Amino acid sequence: MNQLPALAHATAPQLCVVIPVLNERDNIAPLVARLNEVLAGIAWEAIFVDDDSTDGTREAVRAVAQADPRVRLLHRIGRRGLSSAFIEGAQASLAPYIAAMDGDMQHDETLLPHMLAALRDDGYELAIGSRYVAGGGVGDWDATRAGLSTLATRVSQVVLRVQLSDPMSGFFMIRRETFDRAARRLSAMGFKILLDIVASLPSPPRLTELPYKFRSRVHGDSKMDAGVLRDYALLLLDKLVGHIVPVRFVLFAGVGLLGIAAHLLVLRIGLLAGLDFAEAQSVATGVAIVGNFVLNNLFTFRDRRLRGWRFLRGLVTFALICSVGAVGNLSVSIFLFGPGHSSWWVAGLAGAAMSLVWNYAASSVLTWRK
Ligand code: GDD
Ligand code: MN
Repeated sequence: MNQLPALAHATAPQLCVVIPVLNERDNIAPLVARLNEVLAGIAWEAIFVDDDSTDGTREAVRAVAQADPRVRLLHRIGRRGLSSAFIEGAQASLAPYIAAMDGDMQHDETLLPHMLAALRDDGYELAIGSRYVAGGGVGDWDATRAGLSTLATRVSQVVLRVQLSDPMSGFFMIRRETFDRAARRLSAMGFKILLDIVASLPSPPRLTELPYKFRSRVHGDSKMDAGVLRDYALLLLDKLVGHIVPVRFVLFAGVGLLGIAAHLLVLRIGLLAGLDFAEAQSVATGVAIVGNFVLNNLFTFRDRRLRGWRFLRGLVTFALICSVGAVGNLSVSIFLFGPGHSSWWVAGLAGAAMSLVWNYAASSVLTWRK
């Protein structure tokens, strides 16, 4: 009986390796075998965070876990994204050191003990596997992928002023306390969790970069696509302005500006084509509303995208909301412009701002409701 505490103490994990996986069935067993080798002598655990793979990935994890209780699974349904997968895996663990590693064997696991030594023995808070320091490399990437990666790296260095050689890296180890300092400010969008963490920390962490060579994939397919790029742009935007206004509102306002431009263009064309003002203005208004609806449906509310009948119903509610917004716009601006009050442009802007906020609030509740 009194041996239980000793046993429990002996097995408490020091290091948790969080491994996001999406359809990586054939990589699970080889990866755990590699961890078992390179982490010999270290109390480790691995948490696979699976976003509802359809290829038998979870079964592969369960099979391995039958023989090795250090292997755990977090199964998420209706969720996507490497970043949120890492965050939730990290939060499900009690280990004082947390690593992020891909589940496709492209990250060089022999780096893990060196990362741990850097944190535990050398006082670093963050150890990053970098492809862009001497000794590292991107393996067999084609010119396009390598160019994209370099561009994304430069952009983040400039926009977020993050001084990392490889901010796009998804391979790193961090102290629990350091992760916790960033946890409440994380954007948790898309793929780039390291960038998110570093940009969320109130002060720069003490970090070291260790070179590694990005391996080629043997099993399964890459999940990199246009969505990954869009999520990256949203992450940058959220890190830049997210503490002031929600990114969704910024997108909504951007679409609104495009709508005004489209409106003026159509109005001009209509007038040139011989329509009278009321006709041309009506057509322009219709084009602007439909255009805004389509763009907001594609970008601003992509995660709640409407299709089929719900698309049509959404268009109707959106048009109604915009009409109410226009009435509000008029009332506010006419009131402000009234005798002894503001100048024309203050009144006009206030009216427009009022309808923007109304349209956003009402359509996110009614048109694109969760
Ligand atoms: N849970 C979960 N959810 N896992 C995912 C998802 C997802 O939505 N998307 C991808 N993964 C898993 C994959 O199964 C794999 O284990 C890992 O995340 C990386 O996905 P890949 O599709 O193989 O990414 P990559 O090779 O293009 O990108 C790599 O390079 C980037 C740097 O350019 C990764 O290492 C990234 O972490 C890294 O940022
Ligand atoms: Mn990969």
